[in-house]
Amino acid sequence: MNILITGGAGFIGNHVVRLFVNKYPQYKIVNLDKLTYAGNLANLKDVEAKPNYKFVKMDICDFEGVMRLMQAEHIDGIIHLAAESHVDRSIKDPFTFAQTNVMGTLSLLQAAKAYWESQPEKYEGKRFYHISTDEVYGALAMTHPEGIEPPYTTKASSGQHHLAYGDQFFTEELKYQPHSPYSAAKASSDHFVRAFHDTFGMPTIVTNCSNNYGPYQFPEKLIPLFINNIRHRKPLPVYGRGENVRDWLYVEDHARAIDTIFHRGKVAETYNIGGFNEWKNIDIVKVLINTVDRLLGRPEGADMDLITYVTDRAGHDLRYAIDSSKLQRELGWEPSLQFEEGIEKTVRWYLDNQAWLDNVTSGKYQDYYRDMYDKR
Ligand code: NAD
Ligand code: DAU
Repeated sequence: MNILITGGAGFIGNHVVRLFVNKYPQYKIVNLDKLTYAGNLANLKDVEAKPNYKFVKMDICDFEGVMRLMQAEHIDGIIHLAAESHVDRSIKDPFTFAQTNVMGTLSLLQAAKAYWESQPEKYEGKRFYHISTDEVYGALAMTHPEGIEPPYTTKASSGQHHLAYGDQFFTEELKYQPHSPYSAAKASSDHFVRAFHDTFGMPTIVTNCSNNYGPYQFPEKLIPLFINNIRHRKPLPVYGRGENVRDWLYVEDHARAIDTIFHRGKVAETYNIGGFNEWKNIDIVKVLINTVDRLLGRPEGADMDLITYVTDRAGHDLRYAIDSSKLQRELGWEPSLQFEEGIEKTVRWYLDNQAWLDNVTSGKYQDYYRDMYDKR
């Protein structure tokens, strides 16, 4: 296959590119990325010389350019990750999110339609796989009908026992209720992808994944930002009281899910991807402090006083929790890493790759946060 991966220089994208380039030497992998602040080719140093890999700097909104590229490279599969991905930025600048996430996705769909429909075999053997987020489903409550205090142990329909902060989970049947400009734009792009299947017969798949963590994540997101700040003994800006719950998945497990679904997922289906791994933000922050301190030989927990409660994120969704039973049941995927193991690996990676962090962490970037949130 000749596969176009968009957003391959970003956090999740580089793991997907690496997996596909190494696992499928018979495929040609074309990585299309605009290289925004979040795209970094240093993330792909280990694959850039491989004969089955090619990088193209391009905007997904460039309809003509994308179509010419698809023609030149005979693209028959698309894995679409390119997006503006940070909720806080979407609150400040929603236009960019509509432009890239909505118009960019539509432009990519139109280019794929035009190219594939011009081929004698049309949509035969083609695939448009759109990577989306659990945030499109909105926010879940932290209550239980019998008044059981969260977190409590529950059982997923896949049979797996796990800790939960409420009795509702995001399933594929839930209606969309996005709250942030980021999730509204992602929801819109999901609808466009499904519309291209329903209207034109394009073979599409959509997946909605929970919060990813791991190496090469831009340090504006909770986990890498806080690891870096703990290392440098800078304040840790916890939004609100740190009570919000997120469901965390190691990024390489997401990449493996994408591989499984790209090859074996059913056309027109939606799959939720998550690790049944809910955590309150404040508990994650404490795990990060303990882990960084231990690995740096500081007294464990010495840096707890860095925790700084700041003004809450506007419209901050209370709880996300993915039910990935369908994916586990139908395609046999499951996460390979326990959270404790994944966090240890992740913290070690950032501590061992300080040069990477320094490279992407500019003074300007820190100012951005200073402007946006007043310390309480
Ligand atoms: P990221 O911000 O780290 O990377 C995005 C990449 O897209 C960057 O390389 C950037 O240069 C590129 N890009 C942005 N605009 C572009 C444009 N107009 N044209 C071409 N390239 C462009 O994002 P991420 O965290 O790796 O997320 C990747 C995808 O996965 C996104 O679609 C996101 O919505 C989705 N997702 C992310 C998470 C998560 O926890 N990070 C969870 C679920 C889904
Ligand atoms: O759920 C999937 C989503 O996860 C993806 O679609 C998004 O692209 C990705 O960015 C992520 O969104 P979140 O908003 O959940 O991730 P973030 O790391 O920004 O924040 C995680 C939680 O931590 C959230 O409740 C807000 C809080 N937070 C975040 C930052 C950056 C803080 O308390 N302080 C911070 O400085």
